[in-house]
Order: sequence, then C-alpha cells, then structure tokens
Amino acid sequence: MIKGKKIILGITGSIAAYKAALIVRLLIKAGAEVKVIMTTSASNFIAPLTLSTLSKNQVLSELSENETWANHVALGRWADIMLLAPLSCNTLAKMANGICDNLLLAVYLSATCPVVVAPAMDEDMWIHQSTKQNINKLLSFGNHLIPVNNGELASGLSGQGRMAEPEEIIAWLEKFFLCKQELIGKRVLITAGPTHEQIDPVRFIGNHSTGKMGIALAKECMARGASVSLVLGPTAEAVPAGMEVIRVTSAREMLDACLTIFPQTDIAIMCAAVADFSPVTASAQKIKKLNDNITIELTQTPDILKTLGGLKNDGQFLVGFALETDNEKEHALQKLRKKNADLIILNSLRDQGAGFGKETNKITIFDQGENEYKFETKLKSAVATDIVNTILKVYHV
Ligand code: PMT
Repeated sequence: MIKGKKIILGITGSIAAYKAALIVRLLIKAGAEVKVIMTTSASNFIAPLTLSTLSKNQVLSELSENETWANHVALGRWADIMLLAPLSCNTLAKMANGICDNLLLAVYLSATCPVVVAPAMDEDMWIHQSTKQNINKLLSFGNHLIPVNNGELASGLSGQGRMAEPEEIIAWLEKFFLCKQELIGKRVLITAGPTHEQIDPVRFIGNHSTGKMGIALAKECMARGASVSLVLGPTAEAVPAGMEVIRVTSAREMLDACLTIFPQTDIAIMCAAVADFSPVTASAQKIKKLNDNITIELTQTPDILKTLGGLKNDGQFLVGFALETDNEKEHALQKLRKKNADLIILNSLRDQGAGFGKETNKITIFDQGENEYKFETKLKSAVATDIVNTILKVYHV
C-alpha cells in the first residue's frame, strides 16, 4: 500500500517530465508523502512551482543553495522508495557509473531504500548498446525497472522508449508495497513460450506452448520484489507492465538474449518450450509442393538450460522444466543432472490439467539431493507461487 509511504521522486530532463505532475498528484491522493528532486534540465520541462504545490514540499535541485547544504544522506535514508521518473539517458549513464554531479545523483548514491527507474527516451537511444549496458548495470545493483512503453515519441516517431504512464507507475508501486518482497534486490531471468524455427517465409517448426506458465512465474517473482527479465517466444498472451520483456522468435535468439542477461542474474528459470530441432537452412522462398514427399534436414537447436548450467557460478540458482510423457521421474532427474540445474520442475502430459495452454498445471519438483516436492493440480498462478516458495526453501537468498 502506498498510503503513509515516504517517496522521493527524482525528475530528469525529458519531455516526459510534464507527466511528473500527475505522478505526484496520484501519489499524494494515494496518501504518500512526496519529496521532489529535479535536475536543472528537468526544470526546462516542468516548473518546480507546480511540483512544490502538488507535493506540498519544497522542490530540491541544488547540492547547496546560498549558505544551506541539502543533506543528501538524510534524504536517501528518509525515503521508503526512490522513484526516478522520467529517467533520461544522461542520468541513467551517470547512475550506472557512479557519477555524482548534482543533488539527485548524490541522493541516489546515498539511498538505503529500493530504487526504481522509469526511463524515457527516443527509440534509437533506448536500443543503443550503451543504454542496454547501463540498464543492466542498474539492475545488477538491485535497482528496479519500470519498462518503457511502445508508442508516440517526442521525435515524432513511434517506437520503444516512451515512459510508462503515471497510472502504470502507481500500479507498479502499489504492487511493490503489497507483496512479501523476499526477492527484493534479486534479478530473475525467465524464459517462456515456444520458439519458432523457420522453414521458409510462411512455415516454421514450433510447439503448443502459450507462455502462460512462464508469465505466471514472472508475475510471481515481480510480486516478491525481484527485477524480472522475461525472454518470451512468440505468443499472444498479455504481459503486465513492470518487467523487462525481450521478445524472441528462435532458439538461437532466445539463447543470445539469455547469455546477455545471465551474468547479472541471481535466479534463472527456464520454462520455455524450446524447439529441439531447426532446419539446417531456411528457404528464402516459399517451398513449392512439387513432390508428394519432402525432406528437410534438421539440426539440434542450442540447449539453453545446459549452456547456462555450464556457465553458472556458486551464487546463481538455475531452475529447469521437464515436460514428459513417460518414465517421468527418471527423465526429469536425468535432465537435472545433465543440465546442471539446481531444481527441475516436472510436468507430465499424462496428467489431466497439466501442460501446454491450460490455465492449470500439476508439478513435481526435484532438487539435487533428489528430494521430491509434489503438488496438486492448481491454477498456473498458484503453481508459480509453489515454485517460488520451493526456490526460496532450497536457495538461501
Ligand atoms: O507455455 P504454457 O502453454 O503455459 O505451457 C507450459 C509448459 C508445458 C511449456 C511448461 O510448463 C514446460 O514444461 N516447459 C518446458 C518445456 C520443455 O521444453 O521441456 P523439455 O523437457 O523438452 O526441456 C527441458 C528443459 O530444457 C526446459 O527447461 C527447457 O526450457 C530447456 N531447453 C530445452 C531445449 C533446448 N534447446 N533448450 C532448453 O533450454
């Protein structure tokens, strides 16, 4: 609950700064106490007077003014959460590199509370490698990300980089304060959905995964306070705001995304139904039906879980899934060992209400000591709770 919470709102130089007035308004309405800190360039986009009137507090900007010094340490310790919205590319880069040339950055570096950022910038800047690295750095510091939206941008172009709407930011904060937060400061990587391996421009090899199970896990981890990166194969399932979503198509793309994120990850959960085979070459043109039979040469896709299992260090926890149709326990335990996972989550297509596309699932979890945790058929959201509870039992955060 936001009511009674002390919130520092940091505003930086971006056209989205005009939305900060609504953020303050909504926070005050929800019963929070708000102190606003602005960078100098933020005041080109919104007047400090507007924000001091709405927040009922003086707006701070300078480290020292006349003979007074703004106590950034006290401010950093006062807050229950520090929200930077909008976060410009420039301030992001400074935060990622420990630069401290204004009051906002000094408070950030002194903050003992959770920090959450809502970036805003043009698409080209957002997708630039340096921005990606800076965001990854912030996440590795345990800061949280409210992902950007897709839409109209200040440049007149349309694309990624638009700041989350004030209502979405408030909803993120509500959820953050409501949950138990055992995963606060942890970064969780989750794969979900199918992969599609292209045969030609109109056909692919895929499977029936919808991503429901992985998305439920991503929601659960986010609700427990984790910064979540969801690597998602092709699916029409909706994904809530508040997590980083990397959309991929093929197993190779899924592996590449995971390899980028894994070094900064504390817990990785591989829930995707990765296609096991891919055509050796994808035809550039639609393959014609010239003969009754056709042969397509297939090759194995990279095994993402196994690759991460080989890279895992002592502080990282790796969870795999096993989707089986026979000799379930034996096959699941083989996958646990072969892929160097810490837990394996078995679901069997022989169980009613388990597997692809359903709203429910039925799982048994095995750890490296071959301890068995059995669960009844439940909604995938409740299954996700059981999985996270088991992770917390085995992995001492
Ligand atoms: O998405 P839904 O419709 O909600 O369905 C959920 C689900 C049935 C897909 C999910 O619960 C599930 O079982 N996911 C794993 C499916 C699968 O591919 O299982 P597997 O036994 O073939 O693979 C074992 C593990 O290796 C899995 O963690 C898988 O992500 C991983 N793997 C497999 C192949 C590959 N090339 N790379 C991998 O990382």
